Amino acid sequence: MTTTRFQSAAEPEQASGAPKLHIVTFGCQMNKYDSLLVEGKFKGQGYATTDVMADADVILFNTCSVRDHAEERTFSWLGELKHAKQAKPELVIGVMGCMAQRVGEEIFSRAGHVDIVAGTRKFQHMTALVDEVRERRADPETWRARDQRLTATGIEEDVEFERGAMNYTGGQHAYLAVMRGCDLNCTYCIVPTTRGRVRSKPIDEIVAEAQWMVSQGAKVITLLGQTVNSYGEDFPKPEDGGATGSGRQGRPSLGDVLRRLQTIDGLERIRMITMHPAYLTQDLAEAVRDCSKVDRFLPIPAQAGSDDVLRAMKRGYTTDLYRKRLAMLREIVPDVELGSDWIVGFPGETDADFEATLAFAEEVGFVVNYVFKYDPRPTTHAADELSDDVPTAVKKDRNKRLLKKAEEIATLRLGRYVGQTVDVFVEERSDKNPEILHGRSVHGLPVSFAGDERLIGTTIPVAIQQASAYGMHGVVAAANA
Ligand code: SAH
Ligand code: SF4
Ligand code: F3S
Repeated sequence: MTTTRFQSAAEPEQASGAPKLHIVTFGCQMNKYDSLLVEGKFKGQGYATTDVMADADVILFNTCSVRDHAEERTFSWLGELKHAKQAKPELVIGVMGCMAQRVGEEIFSRAGHVDIVAGTRKFQHMTALVDEVRERRADPETWRARDQRLTATGIEEDVEFERGAMNYTGGQHAYLAVMRGCDLNCTYCIVPTTRGRVRSKPIDEIVAEAQWMVSQGAKVITLLGQTVNSYGEDFPKPEDGGATGSGRQGRPSLGDVLRRLQTIDGLERIRMITMHPAYLTQDLAEAVRDCSKVDRFLPIPAQAGSDDVLRAMKRGYTTDLYRKRLAMLREIVPDVELGSDWIVGFPGETDADFEATLAFAEEVGFVVNYVFKYDPRPTTHAADELSDDVPTAVKKDRNKRLLKKAEEIATLRLGRYVGQTVDVFVEERSDKNPEILHGRSVHGLPVSFAGDERLIGTTIPVAIQQASAYGMHGVVAAANA
């Protein structure tokens, strides 16, 4: 769970009489980005933000559905607000994000004190929805709580924000969604249901948004998409009047986006989350090679290292196809580092399947790994058609073993940098030790070193002296060393 506390340093103090907003954000970076958009829009309308939930006039939850645990946590937070609402009836409580999309109006039956449910393509109307709740409360015709409830969960609309009406709240690190939705159908996954079909943002809009963010202080932009490297696949073909680019069938591609963003003065680093192996193209690899601002780190989740499991997951590739794509990528960007997500205990996963996953993780050498225990999600193919037959204890054991393997791999890979000097983008001061700064290498890997906080926001060479599975430590090297 992360509450949103991102604030622009340049932001003026709000008048003390301003209504106050508090947003609680669960889930992935897309949700963090969406929360910032919503926060920016409320601020543009004169709201202040507060870190103290009890002080808020509007409390929003941006929710996640990817595993059951994420949804239950939201309901438990909502439950805690029941008394707050009784004590302060003018409070407005809204639920947005993937759970709002998936569960819809049923949220009201478990949490009757919620006022607004707004799905993943409707949350941009949150300010208007809050205004409407207030109007309904003032109207004798609609004074009863149930008449004040609003639901907006249509998923056809595209998400659009008018930047002129917003305050930028992202600080030095900005997120920017270049596409939304997912057109794939992995059998375990709820995301296509909650996020809808792929909609890519036109390149000119992305560039304008990035320039706006940089003009407001952003130095690092993380490009977001559920399958970020499928960017542009939904655009009309050039012969049908669509824009041209270097993507498949002549459409604009993520590579084109990177090449345009590379030219923005003041933008220091570009990162991307998350890729699907099926869309890993030579064009993208070449753009990563050619754009010095793009981290040499790509999250390309494998999910499993057994072809039988990959087939049952309907991931759309075999381990061999993954190897081939990777060979192409490493040929073009030899020093690229990779991240992966893994699901253990998928229906039918045998010991041999799991061993194949361990071996594949090691063979590829993923430096960052997120491991999840399979969780059947309602309405997905795997939940409906496959038996969740791997016992919980086995899932737990495999989870632990894969994490241990991941640590070994990361220790080896990060160890390779000891003795080298790497360029590091300096991000922040350590919470624990004010003399230590944290940053990321051009390979997206955490590096710490002693230094002056004026270095924050710059790129400097650091001579790496030590490494663990979770990061590297070094000393600032002379610029010409
Ligand atoms: N779009 C991303 C994944 C988004 S969900 C991609 O395709 O890689 C983030 C991660 O949650 C997934 O990569 C997967 O590892 C995990 N996940 C998704 N559904 C899950 C489920 N039902 N049970 C366990 N883990 C799941
Ligand atoms: Fe889910 Fe698969 Fe789409 Fe990723 S690619 S969001 S795992 S359906
Ligand atoms: Fe969760 Fe939705 Fe993101 S399900 S992981 S918040 S796309």
